[in-house]
Amino acid sequence: MEKVIYRIKRFDGTKEWYQEYEFPYEKGKTILWGLIKIKEEIDPSLCFTSACRSAICGSCGVRVNGNAVLACKTSLDKMLETYKTNKLILEPLNNFKVIRDLVVDWEQKFERMKEVKPWLIPSKNSDKTKGFKQSEKQFNMIANPTDCILCGCCISECGQLSINREGFLEPFIFSKSYRFTVESRDEAPGEHLEPALENGLWKCIRCMQCVTKCPKGVRPAEHINGLRKESMKMGHRDNKGARHAYAFHDDIQKTGRLNEMTLPIKTEGLVSTMGRIPFALRLLKKGKIKPFNMPKPVNGIEQVRTIYRLAQNQKEER
Ligand code: FES
Repeated sequence: MEKVIYRIKRFDGTKEWYQEYEFPYEKGKTILWGLIKIKEEIDPSLCFTSACRSAICGSCGVRVNGNAVLACKTSLDKMLETYKTNKLILEPLNNFKVIRDLVVDWEQKFERMKEVKPWLIPSKNSDKTKGFKQSEKQFNMIANPTDCILCGCCISECGQLSINREGFLEPFIFSKSYRFTVESRDEAPGEHLEPALENGLWKCIRCMQCVTKCPKGVRPAEHINGLRKESMKMGHRDNKGARHAYAFHDDIQKTGRLNEMTLPIKTEGLVSTMGRIPFALRLLKKGKIKPFNMPKPVNGIEQVRTIYRLAQNQKEER
């Protein structure tokens, strides 16, 4: 391969267009190398952000062929090989306001992040002269979310955020919330958790894009699950998400299968479910639901119940 082409989405503050740049291929380079080459040798007007070139500062997140990557950590060879082409499409991260070309606006994201108070709230009585010790186990609880470098890759590809930008926090904010909710030295876990609960904690659709796209191996989807568990432990059980989880739990324990007839009532309550009657009637007409067929216990239900018992015993031992 002699030439590489970057087709870059440009934005000058008013209009958008795609512009192609061609430059000689060099082995062993990164996506960021190509951007810097264009800016230094072809078009100084091209805008993008980068600083450390070591996958630490998080400023070089971009989309390559529709997937968010950290430009300084992503091998150009690997991208060309993956897409079997010498032309790559580079765009700004999705789910952000674009300022110019590949530069996105973090202002609003940082404002939302502050809602979960991503800082330690130590006990007022703690003796600061003695430090704040943690056991290895306690540290391991926060090790993964602590690796977040605020690159925005999880935001860009989040399925829920793409359709619900206002009612759902950015995945990395849930990770920040979790990091301080389970922090052993923190005095006020509810102050980190409750804003997450009020801003879509139960709305994650488990597309797992935040996990697969994170260049640092942070697992926001796992932290969302952790926060849900913590919220239930704190007594936040009277919301749709928690009720839905309990309905699953109870049905499976009872019969080994879901009762689709009672699930909406248990989750949303009788009054809200009434609004779904026309839809239920259509399902009934098509034979999709059978209201009088109550699920019978599956074969091997005793084994299912044993799993429940073991899980419950483990929980109590912890
Ligand atoms: Fe700092 Fe890529 S330039 S993470």
